[in-house]
Amino acid sequence: MKHIFKQGAEDGHTLLLLHGTGGNEHDLLSLASIIDPSANILSIRGNVLENGMPRFFRRLAEGVFDEEDLKFRTKELYDFIGEASKTYSFNNEKVIAAGYSNGANIAASILFHYSNPFAGAILHHPMVPLRGMKLPNLTGVPVFIGAGSNDPICTPQETNELEQHLTEAGADVHVHWEQQGHQLTGTEAEAAAEWYKKIF
Ligand code: MLT
Repeated sequence: MKHIFKQGAEDGHTLLLLHGTGGNEHDLLSLASIIDPSANILSIRGNVLENGMPRFFRRLAEGVFDEEDLKFRTKELYDFIGEASKTYSFNNEKVIAAGYSNGANIAASILFHYSNPFAGAILHHPMVPLRGMKLPNLTGVPVFIGAGSNDPICTPQETNELEQHLTEAGADVHVHWEQQGHQLTGTEAEAAAEWYKKIF
């Protein structure tokens, strides 16, 4: 997969950056510098194109996911992270996902499919990636969700449902609410950074 890797401080964490629809691997670099300037960075571009816009999986309509493609792309991305950890010699057990919108959705899908795939996850405006699944054991995995009380794409109901699924699987979920629609604002990034500093 097309990506950027930046080496951080030795033995540190690796921030896995996953952009939103129409974005690329450069979009969240400034977010990473707010969250943890000393972390390694693995920033990946989604492999799917929708009218020229990169995404991490196909959708049939706004908010309606192509579930077969989502499952396929979830494994593809998960495997790629494992390969990248060998290529760049970073500790695969110290990866923290940080995704926005479509990127948060595929990060959530990885959490729905694999037991403890990340040391933690920062999900900015995620949706429930798949329904009717039994989630793996996510005991103690810290998850930050940035949500909008007036987000038309990831509605508060959807946020609450995702929080419930992750909590029931054992994850330690913190939800931060804003009122700026689907935007990833500076204050939301700062809240994620505060959360991160307390935990890592
Ligand atoms: C998605 O398709 O993943 C969500 O609707 C968010 C987005 O617009 O990318």
